[in-house]
This record gives sequence, structure tokens and C-alpha cells, in this order.
Amino acid sequence: MKKYKYINKRTLHQYNMQVAIFIGSPRKNGNTFAMANLLAEQLKDEEIDVDVFDLYDHDIEPCIDCRECNKEQLICMQSDGMKKLYAKMEESDVLVFGTPVYWFGASGRTKLMIDRFKPYFVNKKLYGKKAALLLPSAVQIDERDLTIEQFRRLFKALGIEYLDAISMEAYEKGDVLKNENFHNLIIDLKDRILQSQHNVLEK
Ligand SMILES: Cc1cc2nc3c(=O)[nH]c(=O)nc-3n(C[C@H](O)[C@H](O)[C@H](O)COP(=O)(O)O)c2cc1C
Repeated sequence: MKKYKYINKRTLHQYNMQVAIFIGSPRKNGNTFAMANLLAEQLKDEEIDVDVFDLYDHDIEPCIDCRECNKEQLICMQSDGMKKLYAKMEESDVLVFGTPVYWFGASGRTKLMIDRFKPYFVNKKLYGKKAALLLPSAVQIDERDLTIEQFRRLFKALGIEYLDAISMEAYEKGDVLKNENFHNLIIDLKDRILQSQHNVLEK
């Protein structure tokens, strides 16, 4: 682990901090996109490497419970769009999952991706990474609890540190942009992400 006495934005850049943002909404340029894009912009302004992935642009097959990931190489033997996503997850320091709340849970494509995390339960390659959530939902109160709880338990099982969830009441496309707290909430999350890496470097 690199050690720095004084950690600033330049240092984080030199350390080559990487953030991967996964968008799990099938609605192009909807609320999840808006949240993910602003967070990506904010991080890029801090000279952080950010990659944004639209899960609906990737072919993600279901986990078929073949148990191959329990053997020898401890990796998924399926060959589909997850290959690229696995690689990016493994090289990133911080993972951000954005999904609209669909029936109190994550979107279908997001759940398909989560199911494919089974190799990480055995190979522990995500151990020590940080993660955050972007969750638009039509109703603010209580609608995201189950989604957040599922991710929290998933992160715990995989040894990932949960940072925060930004949940916003939004129904029509672009509703998040009309919320006066939108920028501040995303900036707070950006700061939280940067701080999480400061903590790593200070150890
Ligand atoms: C199939 C479906 C299920 C939904 N289920 C919920 C729900 O359980 N609770 C809720 O508050 N909003 C629900 N919504 C509303 C979306 O979460 C909301 O419109 C969100 O802003 C969509 O984000 P997007 O623009 O990124 O797709 C649902 C929408 C759809 C299409």
C-alpha cells in the first residue's frame, strides 16, 4: 500500500484512483443516467479516472449455478458481456451502482449482474473495495429500503465497504434535475468517495 503524508487531489490522481459507475436503468437518459453522469463529471473534475457502463448495452446472461466458479480458477466460465465488466470491477477502487427502484428492488439487468457476482464470493477479488448507490424512485419514503438492504448484505458478503446511497424522488425523465438538492447530494457523494481513498492511502 502506498503511503503519503499529505494527500491532495494530485496525489489521488498519481495513485490512479479508479471509479466504475454501472447504470442499471433501461430508460436512456432518465434519472439514473442524470445522477451517474453528474457524479462522473464531478469525479473527472478531480482528475479521477471514471468509467461509466450502461448495463443495458452489455449482454449479461443469468448465473446458471454451474458451480464452476468454485473450482480451480475461481472465475465465471460464461463468455458474455460480463467479461468486460468483471475486469473493470476488479481494477477499480470504487464501484457505484445506479438503478431505478423497480418493485422495491433493483432493475432486472442490475439483478442479473448481481447474480453473476458469485465468483467473487469465493475468489474475494472485490474484497476491500468501496461501493455506493444511486437510487431514483417515484416515492421517497421507504421505497428504497429493500434495495439498499440487499446491496448492503451483498457488499458485506463480498467484503466491500458500503459508503453511501443517494436516493432521490423522481418519476418523469429528468425529475432529479429539478430537485434543488441534486447537485449538493452528488457533490457530497463525490467527496465521500474521495475521502474513502484518502483513508486508504493514510493507512
Ligand atoms: C417496472 C417499474 C417498477 C417501478 N417500481 C417502483 C417502486 O416500487 N417504487 C417506486 O418508488 N418507484 C417505482 N418505479 C418508478 C421508478 O423508480 C422511477 O420512475 C425512476 O425515476 C426511474 O428512473 P430512470 O429514469 O433512471 O429509469 C417503477 C418504475 C417501473 C418502470
